[in-house]
Amino acid sequence: MTARARPEEVAQQPSPRVVLGVSGGIAAYKACELLRRFTESGHDVTVVPTAAALEFVGAPTWAALSGKPVSAEVWTGVHEVPHVRIGQTADVVVVAPATADLLAKAAHGLADDLLTNTLLTARCPVVLAPAMHTEMWEHPATQANVETLRRRGVVVVEPAVGRLTGADSGKGRLPEPAEVFELVRAVLDRGADAPQDLAGRKVVVSAGGTREYLDPVRFLGNRSSGLQGYALARTAAARGAHVTLVSANVSLDAPAGVSVVHVETTEELREAVLAATATADAVVMAAAPADFRPDSVSDAKIKKAEDGSAPSIGLVQNPDILAEISRDRARDGAVVVGFAAETGDVSGSVLDLARAKLARKGCDLLVVNDVSGGAVFGSADNEAVILGADGSAVEVPRGTKAALAQVIWDEVARRFVD
Ligand SMILES: Cc1cc2nc3c(=O)[nH]c(=O)nc-3n(C[C@H](O)[C@H](O)[C@H](O)COP(=O)(O)O)c2cc1C
Repeated sequence: MTARARPEEVAQQPSPRVVLGVSGGIAAYKACELLRRFTESGHDVTVVPTAAALEFVGAPTWAALSGKPVSAEVWTGVHEVPHVRIGQTADVVVVAPATADLLAKAAHGLADDLLTNTLLTARCPVVLAPAMHTEMWEHPATQANVETLRRRGVVVVEPAVGRLTGADSGKGRLPEPAEVFELVRAVLDRGADAPQDLAGRKVVVSAGGTREYLDPVRFLGNRSSGLQGYALARTAAARGAHVTLVSANVSLDAPAGVSVVHVETTEELREAVLAATATADAVVMAAAPADFRPDSVSDAKIKKAEDGSAPSIGLVQNPDILAEISRDRARDGAVVVGFAAETGDVSGSVLDLARAKLARKGCDLLVVNDVSGGAVFGSADNEAVILGADGSAVEVPRGTKAALAQVIWDEVARRFVD
């Protein structure tokens, strides 16, 4: 019996109300782009800066871009009680950038300006995107505040690594506004009452397609775009998970809050996934590792022969990473998910072959795409059947790759034993 997953109804709700909090970090200017992305995609945005944020970007910019008056304190428009109403009526509150100071105030329930009052009155999902120097981020006080906030169900996005204010670089950058936007959208898609059911979980996602080199410039590759794996990483982060994304040859921006490990070959993918899997609660193998690789790799570029003959290429099988993880999963209770792109053949239908593959690999879930028409690769949409080792089958109708990712995480979360 095949169950039908819920359709993507939340994404169709009109004008979600977003409160965009901006605190006083150098990355405040990036919140202008974030604001634009929200307004241009039909969100109703109220910007609530702190007084320090207004030192970086003035109120006229926020007011003009949002089309609403802007205040940092609780004494403006008091007859409308903004210190309570803004938080109460929000569908999501996102603070980007969130300073060390803002994190501390939020963790301790201080309420000395409009933004901190809003954080106390909001009953909707809250996303904080910290940005600060590495020393401030790593300070035990900040880390304790982050832990407190996460325990309460707040999504605190891991900062990115890269250039900081001035000449130095390290962990503490605000993730790209486009990626913060996507993460907030994933939070909104789940709805106000959805629990942060992956909070505190470590998950590993692989994405993309591996390359198997023939010589320094040529390789055997495949058509995997990495879009599904990136959607899985992004939605897991939006549900509170600590995400490691092992990315094979994908040219997409890193999802906000996700640690990305870049690899090229199947062997590199295997090493990176196995290293990250040792402490993981779930592993989702959305990458397409090559089944075969050339039996030798030439150190020099292979030249054309004068006589017009072509070299023959011998292939050897690559290790089966999914089977290896399923067999050797380090943690009891770690959930392992594989993907199968099937076309069906004379020996069986797509689902027959997928069931056999699920049994052979020993994983908990297998996400089955029918790729007979070649429609999945590089497309923004996907449809699949999620087969469970327990005999379950969840049919996910055609929708975005983010929507499929949410259903996959629903199935994973349901299988956690602790
Ligand atoms: C040039 C400059 C850049 C700053 N950048 C940051 C930053 O990126 N992150 C941070 O936590 N604090 C930063 N600060 C310090 C905050 O502005 C300061 O802690 C302030 O009190 C924060 O107030 P708020 O949390 O109410 O916005 C910066 C200060 C200056 C002068």
